Amino acid sequence: MALEHHQPVMLNESLEFLVAAPAGRYLDGTLGRGGHSRALLERFPEATVVGCDRDEAALRRVAEELPTELAPRLELKQLSFSQLATLGGGFDGLLLDLGLSSEQLSDDERGFSFRFDGPLDMRMDQSAPTTAAKLVNETPEADLANLIYRYGDVRRSRAVARAIVKSRPLRTTFELAEVVRRVVRRSGKIDPATRTFQALRMAVNGEIDELNAILTTSLTLLKPAGRLVLISYHSGEDRLVKRFLRRMSGGCVCPPGTPVCLCEPQEEFKLLTRRPVIAADAEIKANPRARSAKLRAGERLP
Ligand SMILES: C[S@@+](CC[C@H](N)C(=O)[O-])C[C@H]1O[C@@H](n2cnc3c(N)ncnc32)[C@H](O)[C@@H]1O
Repeated sequence: MALEHHQPVMLNESLEFLVAAPAGRYLDGTLGRGGHSRALLERFPEATVVGCDRDEAALRRVAEELPTELAPRLELKQLSFSQLATLGGGFDGLLLDLGLSSEQLSDDERGFSFRFDGPLDMRMDQSAPTTAAKLVNETPEADLANLIYRYGDVRRSRAVARAIVKSRPLRTTFELAEVVRRVVRRSGKIDPATRTFQALRMAVNGEIDELNAILTTSLTLLKPAGRLVLISYHSGEDRLVKRFLRRMSGGCVCPPGTPVCLCEPQEEFKLLTRRPVIAADAEIKANPRARSAKLRAGERLP
């Protein structure tokens, strides 16, 4: 297993938006390698953090690597976004750094990346019932095409689905990537298999439903003046976040030209970022993963 060096994305920016109460209680819903949580605890010696992830391996690693002096202020829990409501409320800030960690991506056994040959797994929570292999080998062709189009924006999604169905059973990341490359032409530097892998990963982990669930739950998790900070890495996720924050800060998100507003804007958040915050050039140079990151933040109104 190849491990890549871990660098939390937009660390300074995210903590600036997140921490308005230096002695506050924070929720990190995407603990990952613990980069953001750890820095928060180091910079704010009176703050506490509940760190959650649906990936048990991530929690185990953070528990092993955490300096003992920080441990009493970090509570670890294996929870997915849709389960975070069980934590009640009263948080001064909620951080969500979406997507995968570099550990997950670079672990060939997890099957997230076609850079390594591994089983078609792609589950963030390894106890979840549906693997990528199950989706790829058992989903009817039309549904597979829809899923690849919807989550991956793959224009030749039908051709990809047809090729997958013809090549069944597919067992490994290399096998799947090869099948996709046969029907999707390379455009620029991006591997033709990238978007299909992204689509399958999103479907395996129910990522859109999970994101919608946590956006709604953030209303009950945060106390007044509590901060919501989200970092997303692809346009579909960022669009959801942007629309949520706009509608919850009194803005209309109806399609242009709609005669009467139907989206029911609410005054739940003050928008802290009119435009998404993006990483500085120096960070992108040092950490290419930051290139596609977009940060948006809001403050909970009383
Ligand atoms: C980009 S990483 C977070 C990295 C972290 N901020 C750090 O600095 O180490 C995203 C993490 O969120 C977790 N995750 C993604 N979606 C999740 C969900 N719906 N519920 C719980 N955890 C999730 C993934 O398992 C992964 O470990």
